[in-house]
Formats: sequence, structure tokens, C-alpha cells
Amino acid sequence: MTPNPASQQKSDQTLPFDVQPVSGALGAEIHGVDLAHDTDGAVWDGLRSAIAEHGVIFFRDQNLTPEQHIAMAEHFAPININRFFAHVEGYPQIAEVRKEPEQTSNIGGGWHTDHTYDLAPAFGSILLAREVPEQGGDTQFSDLALAFDRLSDGLKSTLKSLNAVHSSRHVFGKAAQRPDDLAARIGNAEDATQDAVHPVVIRHPESGREVLFVNPGFTLRFEGWTDEESKPLLSYLYEHAKRPEFTCRFRWANGSIAFWDNRRTWHLAINDYHGARRLLHRITIEGVPLSG
Ligand code: SIN
Repeated sequence: MTPNPASQQKSDQTLPFDVQPVSGALGAEIHGVDLAHDTDGAVWDGLRSAIAEHGVIFFRDQNLTPEQHIAMAEHFAPININRFFAHVEGYPQIAEVRKEPEQTSNIGGGWHTDHTYDLAPAFGSILLAREVPEQGGDTQFSDLALAFDRLSDGLKSTLKSLNAVHSSRHVFGKAAQRPDDLAARIGNAEDATQDAVHPVVIRHPESGREVLFVNPGFTLRFEGWTDEESKPLLSYLYEHAKRPEFTCRFRWANGSIAFWDNRRTWHLAINDYHGARRLLHRITIEGVPLSG
């Protein structure tokens, strides 16, 4: 079993800010960075290293304007405009993740990886909290590099021979079975036409680590297998990847940011705050085609 690098690293002395891992698996809080005003190239390079190392990084008290949020994202990659979510008025680059007090369904309430239905799945998302409930509404993340690492050599080798088909149709398409009160927050069902095939085990484009790249939100089946044939193995992998020792959980406050690497993580927005508003702004950034 390969040791988990996150659990060994306390704080990297070579970076121009402080890095505090939040679990033994993935995730770190970054302290000593002002995302609105920092112009030092070493900060941005350091943040790139931190996300590659920890899979998801968190910031506190970063009350960015929409323009600052966009500028921050563009330090990492061009923005990928989400075609299904409502956006912030005047800013098509910023998707709204909103749940009103009278609504019961939330966005992202099941484990998923964003945009795996795209041919070049997103690099990641930068989610900024604008108004969060006093209790509840945390987000969980799971580390799919660690989950892959903990499988047997036999299963790893079978998985490395497979591709999987991912789609947006069953989630955002015309025939999607969505709770009614999500409808106003999601649109463009006619754009949910694309399927994409990716290796089941990708090599992470930056870290070179092997990552299990299937997710309960958007993966339909293994390529060349039926849905029924795929289900037992996918279910096994999903149960495995949800194990608590592969996860971390983030408690939001207004002005908090989570920036996750979409090629290595799953996330899930916990829907435990009925009667309260939760509003976050999400910018997703472009990735590259993935290979095994
Ligand atoms: C998402 O799935 O992007 C939303 C996550 C969250 O609201 O915590």
C-alpha cells in the first residue's frame, strides 16, 4: 500500500503561505493569501502545487467581487461556461448554486465529478460562499486517487483495461427525472446531448497519479458492456470510494472558497438545512482530454 502523501505533510515550508491539511486523505486550508489582491507569481504557482498535492484547497474570508472571482479563476485556466445552471446576472461565467428556504432539492446533492460528460472534463471548480445557513450545508469530498490506490492489484489491472461512457442526458436532458423545484435553477435541456468516453483509470495530467475516473452522477456504463452488466462493478467502486477514510468535509462560512481538482475528486453537497437559504457562486475552469 502506498503511503498517503497528504497525511504525511503538515505544512509545506517552501510555499509563500501556510497549508493545513484537514484530513488524512485530502483537502487543505490555505492561510495567508489575499485572493483579491495578491499579484505575486509565486503565490499562484504555489496554489497550483497545493491543489495538485491536496486535491481540494479551502480559503476563508475572501469576499471577492464577481470580477475578482473571474480574475482568480483565470490565473489557473480559461473559464468553462456551464450550460445548464442559472448564472449570476451579468456574469455568464459564474454559475449559481442556490437553494431557497422553501425549496427542498439542492444542486449537487449526490456524489459526482463535474462535467465528466465533456470530451475534455473540467480541471476544477472554484466555489465561493455568498450566503450559507448557520447550521448544515457542508460539502464532502472524496479522493479517487487514494481510492484507486487501495484496490487490489487484480482489480486495478482489470479496471485499467476499461473505458466508461459518461453522459449529461439523464441529469440535465429533456427526459431527466428531476424534482420539480430544481427546474427553475437548471435549463438548456436541449444541450444535454453529449456522451463522452474516458478511461476508467486516468493518469492525472499534472501529478501523474493514477485516478479512478467513474462517478455516480454521470457515468452510465463501461464501454462495450450493458448498463445491467456494468451496475454491479460500478456499485462496488462507488461504495469503496465513499469510505470515510478517503473523504474530508468542509464547513462553510460567508466568504469561504473551495477549489477542487475535478480530475481527482468527487464532491457532494449535504442537503440538511431545509428552511434556510444557501447561495454560492461557482466558476468552473477548462481541463484537457484525459488518458490512461
Ligand atoms: C456542486 O456540486 O458544484 C455544488 C457543491 C456545493 O454546493 O457544495
